[in-house]
Amino acid sequence: MNKHNIGVIGCGDFLRWQADAIRTSKSINVKSLFDTDPARAEKYAGRIGGAVVTSADAIFADKAIDVVCLFVPPWVRRGLVEKATQAGKHIIATKPLGPAVEDCAAMVSAVERAKIKCGIIYRRTDHAASETYRKIFDSGEIGRLALYKHDWIHHYPEWNQWATDPEKNGGPFMDAMIHNMNMARYLMGRPATFCTYFSDNHAHPGLKCNDTEFMKLDFDGNGSAHLFITWAADLAVYSKDGNDREHIDLFYMVTDQGWRLTDAWKDGKMIITASKDGTARQWTVEPPAKTSFDAFAECIDSNGPLPPNIPGVREAFADIKLIKDADQNRGVRFAVKMT
Ligand SMILES: NC(=O)c1ccc[n+]([C@@H]2O[C@H](COP(=O)([O-])OP(=O)(O)OC[C@H]3O[C@@H](n4cnc5c(N)ncnc54)[C@H](O)[C@@H]3O)[C@@H](O)[C@H]2O)c1
Repeated sequence: MNKHNIGVIGCGDFLRWQADAIRTSKSINVKSLFDTDPARAEKYAGRIGGAVVTSADAIFADKAIDVVCLFVPPWVRRGLVEKATQAGKHIIATKPLGPAVEDCAAMVSAVERAKIKCGIIYRRTDHAASETYRKIFDSGEIGRLALYKHDWIHHYPEWNQWATDPEKNGGPFMDAMIHNMNMARYLMGRPATFCTYFSDNHAHPGLKCNDTEFMKLDFDGNGSAHLFITWAADLAVYSKDGNDREHIDLFYMVTDQGWRLTDAWKDGKMIITASKDGTARQWTVEPPAKTSFDAFAECIDSNGPLPPNIPGVREAFADIKLIKDADQNRGVRFAVKMT
């Protein structure tokens, strides 16, 4: 197995969530880290290895590095993606791809022109249940997904200065609900057709963005996703150093045969339950055989497609386009155009 040397650019809270997967991955080796705040890069060099360098350019110029992780805020991603593609590096980034459609279109062009691999980590990437759900729906054994319902209730981000700024990121939907919109699109497995979106500020007039957003996304063949997020409730914040806050998550799905699906942890395993007419069927979610970094490395080695749980740059672009179009058409049901 080839070992890929990686350079990590952006050593903030997202790297905290990814650090164990990076450290335990067998086919990657952290060579360099850079953050505009050098203390952050130093902190993670101690956890995941690698040497701290003084610029992103030092990583792009290093011929021994073939993969860069761009774990920076969305508003600085475009310039780094363009430089990475010019240097021929493969890219692992995260959502939201960028704060504006033009930025995202430029990133798609840069990636496709350079013919490098670019994977965007979403919640679905590290959530093994999503692949099990997809297999259940693909098999047709309990019908196809008709209703995807997801509510998230938590405090707004306080560990950085950019997340509540629409110019740099967006509101709660762009920042967080994008995960579940992407998941709904993936599990529906058919095109979104119409969208209706609402955005309000109920309790935080001092924020640059609104605090409550809701999207109803319709899909070909009588499917809908109902996606609601609010930062209005003053829920607990356990630490302001990172994403460490009380989180209320209401989630279920219904198939066109009337089965209701939920998931829950039991004895250290995630169990998916489908119930109907007083009967229940259950599936145990198998933990992934490899980390998403090893799966990405394998895709480079084989020059094959991205793993199913790692969306590509075009899919991430479509997510931003949809949210931006929705924001421009608040309260109006409009036809979805993903390109
Ligand atoms: N924190 C989470 O729970 C979480 C979860 C999923 C996805 N994400 C995504 O991860 C990305 C980063 O978010 P975060 O929570 O880590 O934010 P953060 O502010 O904690 O970290 C971002 C880091 O990037 C650094 N940085 C900024 N500009 C830079 C530049 N030009 N070059 C190098 N470093 C630079 C900052 O100094 C900071 O350390 C965002 O797109 C976010 O949506 C975060």
